[in-house]
Amino acid sequence: MHYFCSMEILSDDTKNILGLRLPSDPRWVNLAGIQLEEILTDHAYCEQKAATTCISLIQRYPDRELLVEELSPIVTEEWGHFRAVLAELKKRGLQLGKQRKDEYVNRLLEFQLKGGNPEERFLDRLLTMALIEARSCERFKRLSEGLDDAYMRSFYRRFMESEAGHYTLFITLAEHYMPKARVRKRWSEWLAYEALVMDSIEARGDRVH
Ligand SMILES: [Fe+2]
Ligand SMILES: [Fe+2]
Repeated sequence: MHYFCSMEILSDDTKNILGLRLPSDPRWVNLAGIQLEEILTDHAYCEQKAATTCISLIQRYPDRELLVEELSPIVTEEWGHFRAVLAELKKRGLQLGKQRKDEYVNRLLEFQLKGGNPEERFLDRLLTMALIEARSCERFKRLSEGLDDAYMRSFYRRFMESEAGHYTLFITLAEHYMPKARVRKRWSEWLAYEALVMDSIEARGDRVH
């Protein structure tokens, strides 16, 4: 896996993830445990969207060499995640359901700058991805620690490690193309907004977010 984190890097990433201003509702892990088919379906589409969004970023910014180079293997990795979730559903005799409305992601997209400076829109696209990766990592961490089933705990641990690497990558890309101070300032606005979103959406056991 291209962005598989060593434990050493992971502990730093985990610290960074604590930058998320609002931890998940503690009831969430219990809820998640009881609707496996639903949450695996939702998870599968999260992976699909991650792959699709990386492809879109490559299509939109073909001249950004580092971005193209770094995101190409992530597409493969995210699609591998999709397949791993699909295999898990199949193994359990469960079905991949239809894609649901993703309230969390839709609310984040509302915060992206729509007009104006193309560089700021580019930054927002990268930070949206960083945030979704960070929150996904935090959710997978909770599942990997809180579920009763040891197999499922290690299943989610693998995703947690991988998404932590992605979170770092999107921040690194932002800092490669833009001054660090600008990235930090906008990141802090995103964190504040995301905390409001988390606070206002229902904690559901059939959704990753
Ligand atoms: Fe993933
Ligand atoms: Fe990811």
